[in-house]
Amino acid sequence: MEIVIQPTPEAASRIAAHIIANLVREKPNCVLGLATGGTPLLLYRELARMHREDNLDFSRVTTFNLDEYVGLAPEHPHSYHTFMEHNLFRYINISPAQTHIPNGVAKDMREEGTRYEAEIAAAGGIDLQVLGIGTDGHIGFNEKGSSLASRTRLKTLTAQTREDNARFFNRPEDVPLHVITMGVGTIMDTRQILLLAFGERKARVMAATVEGPITAMNPASILQMHPVAKALIDEPAATQLAHADYYRWVYDHKPDWQRFVKQT
Ligand code: F6R
Repeated sequence: MEIVIQPTPEAASRIAAHIIANLVREKPNCVLGLATGGTPLLLYRELARMHREDNLDFSRVTTFNLDEYVGLAPEHPHSYHTFMEHNLFRYINISPAQTHIPNGVAKDMREEGTRYEAEIAAAGGIDLQVLGIGTDGHIGFNEKGSSLASRTRLKTLTAQTREDNARFFNRPEDVPLHVITMGVGTIMDTRQILLLAFGERKARVMAATVEGPITAMNPASILQMHPVAKALIDEPAATQLAHADYYRWVYDHKPDWQRFVKQT
């Protein structure tokens, strides 16, 4: 995993936006994997700006979101459908038919997981996946103990995640218990990963993810096995990394061409 430490979330998000913009320009019909939550908001704002001011064209792009709350219909104010519409889709020229988010009110969640996996496969797989990380190490909503080979399915949120996400709801008890999420295996199948993590709250889990053992007790740690994964983090999130100075040195000595492009 490549670790890029930036002074601010804004600077890290700008790099992520450049990588995505380069991909969209190189491959206008690319498939993007998207995340929700607080972390990608600056990235989405920058992509919207690039669309508005730099003509970044999303008309042929397809997207797949990581997850959705079970029990929240797409039009629910706290659904991830609504989140994506309010924070990105309404600001870019993406076709609604090409945006995909698991259906949190599907009758049969097992069938929904299979259907979602089939849709990703039919789109040719995900070229680039944006990830945030839970303070407990989840990616998507693959909580601790998730099979590292798992596919899209229903999961039960931990008390920690429900507490972390309570800020998006009127009352803590309104946070749903269940989610439908891409699996760890689904995420590992994507061709490129950008993991974003900001703030001291994420420092402990980032150290475990980057420098700790690979274990289902910290599902994000499997990203060490992904061939093209980059962690874009701010200084506070880097405070518990034992080798932060080395990561900074590596990044500072990169040839310019390598910073913003897919590295294979
Ligand atoms: C969101 C998702 C989660 C979040 C994670 C961090 O679609 O899959 O893994 O990325 O919970 O959330 P924030 O960014 O709010 O700290």
